[in-house]
Amino acid sequence: MKITIQNVWKTKSIEADNGKLRELKLLSDINIEFCGSCIQAILGPSGSGKTTLLRLINKLDSPDKGHILIDDVPINSIPPRQLRKDIGMVFQVPALFRGTIFNNLSFGPILYKKEFNTEQAKRLLKIVGLNDIDLSRDIDSLSVGQQQRISFARSLANEPRVLLLDEPTSALDPSAANNLLDLIKKINKEMGVSIILVSHIMEHAQRIADFICLLVEGRIVENGTASSFFKQPQTGIAQKFIRGEL
Ligand SMILES: Nc1ncnc2c1ncn2[C@@H]1O[C@H](COP(=O)(O)OP(=O)(O)O)[C@@H](O)[C@H]1O
Ligand SMILES: [Mg+2]
Repeated sequence: MKITIQNVWKTKSIEADNGKLRELKLLSDINIEFCGSCIQAILGPSGSGKTTLLRLINKLDSPDKGHILIDDVPINSIPPRQLRKDIGMVFQVPALFRGTIFNNLSFGPILYKKEFNTEQAKRLLKIVGLNDIDLSRDIDSLSVGQQQRISFARSLANEPRVLLLDEPTSALDPSAANNLLDLIKKINKEMGVSIILVSHIMEHAQRIADFICLLVEGRIVENGTASSFFKQPQTGIAQKFIRGEL
């Protein structure tokens, strides 16, 4: 699934200390095309606009100017529910509701009026590496790492073509984070789901991304293959980011 972002701008009005409204530029002149089947990382320091960009792609917010096209169709003309079936999102902290694992996994299929049985649920658990867990277990009884895997399984239940991942490892310890990154790679390679991974941690992109875009202060400062990003960064800002100085 091709996602094209053309001349996108996003500002937000915030109240300054003196009570006056001030325009904050969240994204400025964003132009990028995300490849149809790969892992694209969006890297950048905190506050650079990464979450803002992901929210636009999932229609949780809309740009002030510019266009977003999904397989060449303007995002405005796609109903949100259809869009979110094809483009799933996983957040920084597991987005689950109270109840059993099965309740959570079947939520999407019920919403989209698709059949969903325990066999399908078990298959999803296997994909996310939770083979031995009981479907009737309560979400509250799981570790955060397990809950994040259930969040992935829940997104996959809708058979998405793209997954938007907003710092999905941030609640996890380093070893659980690496395991989750390997799972993301597996989902991409074995299920053909395109991945857009947002992170402020360079090593995470280095581990799994095919392409990297560096976003700083709401602007794309570097965009290309992961190997060229790390071997020959074109801009001084990217070199600083790679050295851990940004
Ligand atoms: N509701 C808001 N009010 C004020 N500032 C905001 C709001 N939402 C986002 N921002 C600011 O917009 C910038 C970009 O935010 P965000 O997209 O969340 O960045 P990132 O995900 O890269 O950390 C940040 O400087 C953030 O502080
Ligand atoms: Mg963010």
